[in-house]
Amino acid sequence: MVHKMKDILHLKAPGNWMNDPNGFIYYEGKYHLFYQYFPYAPEWGTMHWGHAVSEDLIHWEHLGVALFPTKRYDQNGVFSGSALEKDGKLYLYYSAVRYLETDPEDIHRAARDRYESSQAMLISGDGMHFDNWKDKKQILPVIRDENVADSVHTRDPKVWNEDGIYYMILGSTYREKAGRVLFYVSEDGENWEYAAQYRHEKFGRIVECPDLFRLKHTWVFLASPMYVEDAGKGYEHHAVCTLAEFDGQDCQLTLRKGFQYVDYGMDLYAPQTNVDREGRRVMVGWMRMPKAVEKEEKTWIGMMCLPRVIDVKEGHIYFRVHPEIERYFSGEIQDRKHLCTDRPCRIKAVLEEGECLVVGGYRIWVEQGYLKTDRSKVFQGMEGYAQTAATPRSLDTHRLDIFVEPNLIEIFINEGEYVISHVVYGLDDAIEGEIESINIGGL
Ligand code: FRU
Repeated sequence: MVHKMKDILHLKAPGNWMNDPNGFIYYEGKYHLFYQYFPYAPEWGTMHWGHAVSEDLIHWEHLGVALFPTKRYDQNGVFSGSALEKDGKLYLYYSAVRYLETDPEDIHRAARDRYESSQAMLISGDGMHFDNWKDKKQILPVIRDENVADSVHTRDPKVWNEDGIYYMILGSTYREKAGRVLFYVSEDGENWEYAAQYRHEKFGRIVECPDLFRLKHTWVFLASPMYVEDAGKGYEHHAVCTLAEFDGQDCQLTLRKGFQYVDYGMDLYAPQTNVDREGRRVMVGWMRMPKAVEKEEKTWIGMMCLPRVIDVKEGHIYFRVHPEIERYFSGEIQDRKHLCTDRPCRIKAVLEEGECLVVGGYRIWVEQGYLKTDRSKVFQGMEGYAQTAATPRSLDTHRLDIFVEPNLIEIFINEGEYVISHVVYGLDDAIEGEIESINIGGL
């Protein structure tokens, strides 16, 4: 029996393991956020979809497991995917995984990467009930033609509807040498036809969780390519984005040269977007954590970042904190030297060259115009993970909007021009440096 667990601001694993956001959608008056979930231990294993709902993107209620393996084709995992509303119903698309060889010492993992992936869906009449036996359907069988895709690494369907046509973008690889994405189209959201593909070495070697959407007069492509960085600097796989052109007639994708990282803290991964109640494009991403948190007889690992609104200005992609979140931080506190480590807080500051702000042990400063951060004091014992971060270029101004909670610091620089988010452990409550205001979470 799942008891009613709640989270505020950041959705966290309700115990055990969480990774990617899945099926993020505003449906029938509520935001639904599903996520990759392993319910038995604080580590990755046979994937389920956990489910949570919120009316305001602030208060989240956990609803337990929505999707789990029941079919031969998804017997070893219900991998990432997306959601769509059609005729009042909730359509959930996911990658179905079946191991060809199981690790004898851990049946939750495949041995030697020997598994295959197909694409499947589940239709729910109300977004609250999910019949994993009756309402699932395999929509794209395992692709065995290497010219089209890869039988192992083809996953994470993101589906949208435009002008009455359903589009699906899938992440894949070309012989594990170059990332590629595939496009499928459909008239009814259930029967799919292959349309086109795009591949490039700059996508890393395998693309995960691709997302493509129209914003103002352009398109934005967002994806999580694997092996885009050296392991020495921390994670090898990172979320990137770029402006794109997309022709829906023949599914031709053209990407603008160069990528931005979605977040320069480099902990964020596998983000997914959808439109909110007001039609803004909102993104949620998984904050990778190297170590589980043990609190009140619960052990959990993995959480979501704050929802961020995506915008494009002068060719640059901005990630702003969602306005609902700003509304939450109403109470200003007077004692500016102490951070309330039990409650989320928001700190505003403008830093000049050479100035430094220390938030609970986490350092933020400006050096030759770059905004830099160092988490080493609040990230101890985590060798092999990046301790420092910086903006990719020098900036004229450094207006900071910082959101702090016990295991996460998110710094929005110049209204979302860049964002640096870091997982932390053991913040203290001291604040040093020039700050404009501190607000604590209320409501
Ligand atoms: C990204 C990812 C996806 C996959 C899922 C499995 O973190 O590897 O590509 O669907 O996680 O949990």
